[in-house]
Amino acid sequence: MTKYHIQGGKPLSGTITISGAKNAAVAIIPAALLVDGVCRIENIPQISDVTLILQILQELGADVRTINRTTVDIDCSHIRNRQVPYELARRIRASYYLVGALLGRFGWAEVPLPGGCDLGGRPIDQHIKGFEALGAKVTLPKGGYIRVEAPEDGLHGAHIYFDVVTVGATMNIMLAAVLAKGQTIMENCAKEPHIVDLANFLNAMGADVKGAGTDVIKIRGVESLHGGSYSIIPDQIEAGTFMAAVAACGGSVLVKNVIPRHLECITAKLREMSVEVTEFDDAVLVRREGKLTKTNIKTLPYPGFPTDMQPQMTTALCLAEGTSIITEGIWGSRYRYTEELTRMGANIHVDGAIAVVEGVRELNGAPVRAHDLRAGAAMVIAGLAAKGVTEVEQVQNIERGYETLVEKFVALGADMYRSEIPESAENK
Ligand code: EPZ
Repeated sequence: MTKYHIQGGKPLSGTITISGAKNAAVAIIPAALLVDGVCRIENIPQISDVTLILQILQELGADVRTINRTTVDIDCSHIRNRQVPYELARRIRASYYLVGALLGRFGWAEVPLPGGCDLGGRPIDQHIKGFEALGAKVTLPKGGYIRVEAPEDGLHGAHIYFDVVTVGATMNIMLAAVLAKGQTIMENCAKEPHIVDLANFLNAMGADVKGAGTDVIKIRGVESLHGGSYSIIPDQIEAGTFMAAVAACGGSVLVKNVIPRHLECITAKLREMSVEVTEFDDAVLVRREGKLTKTNIKTLPYPGFPTDMQPQMTTALCLAEGTSIITEGIWGSRYRYTEELTRMGANIHVDGAIAVVEGVRELNGAPVRAHDLRAGAAMVIAGLAAKGVTEVEQVQNIERGYETLVEKFVALGADMYRSEIPESAENK
């Protein structure tokens, strides 16, 4: 088992550089399946979800060459196998992008239903609605697969109105539509930075996608996509996680390689909490000297406050003066981590989508678990801010989405290390 060991109670100071965006990378890499040529993708984060999705492409017959630590060349010109390996694909949510990409390129796909963080139900009805609108036949055969097949004469453009704002379905239908015949109009689209990043990648390879980042995306199908190169945007949520850590621990940190516009909602909330945020072209300086003050947060689709920052900010608010109200507007259940914070002395009352956070003077270190990716990041923040020692278990959930998190915090003065006990030794 792998654990993080944290001796908390120290302010953070120094500089860190943010990696490429996880939720862009796990959509852009499958998008290479649509391209008849070599895609050079840069600024890829070194995280296990990305390793997994690259492994799946190789299993399908793609030629994947590592150019350097954050750059790969992917050539899907000669893909023949379209049976996605079950054990690999079911472990991550983003495997559903393989459906849109394989359907768009080859007119057929059979993909295990996705896994991912347990946030309450994670339906895919809007993905299915979009595929069927483009003319595909969608079946959910036994054995946990989704199978999609285009009609004989291929997919055709459609006018699709999403019932809910969904990142996954917006990206997935974009993937399926770029090679379909005619125009596709998608309405009530998600507008996250990674949606725009995927559209920019596809357009760099010859697609015709307009309106990404707004409610309405218009796609004109093209014959084929050609090779090219593209660099992934910095990770908005990784940057926000470090900003929330400074809020919780105090100190002064320069967060480099960010797009400040993507952080506007997080910056606004931190300023309400008496955290100082100074914006530069591609960096933000985050400082907290005095007491944290309370605020209220409601998570919403972008440009609202991101749900993937909810656990991290709630953790910081545990140490604020006063009572904060958190409303989770996206996921049915994203408060399981509060049980772990309570173990450390937090005072949080959860009722459905609402969490009431009474600020306490301090948190105390304890053994805690990383239930999912962002909950795990919240445990690290809590451990860094708490007095005493915190051990975080199940950190593989954290390493799905954060590159070298321990090294980055140690560079900011954190007293923290990672231990790995082989499974066999554990069972003794
Ligand atoms: C993506 O998940 C992210 N994951 C999530 O980040 C993030 O929390 C979420 O978007 C919202 O921003 C990846 O990009 C890999 P949705 P996704 O489809 O696409 C409902 C992280 O920590 N819905 O935008 O699965 C759904 O139930 C992860 O990096 C339907 O009803 O989210 C939810 O309430 C956790 N039907 C809402 O929409 C559908 O067909 C938003 O879901 C699809 C979604």
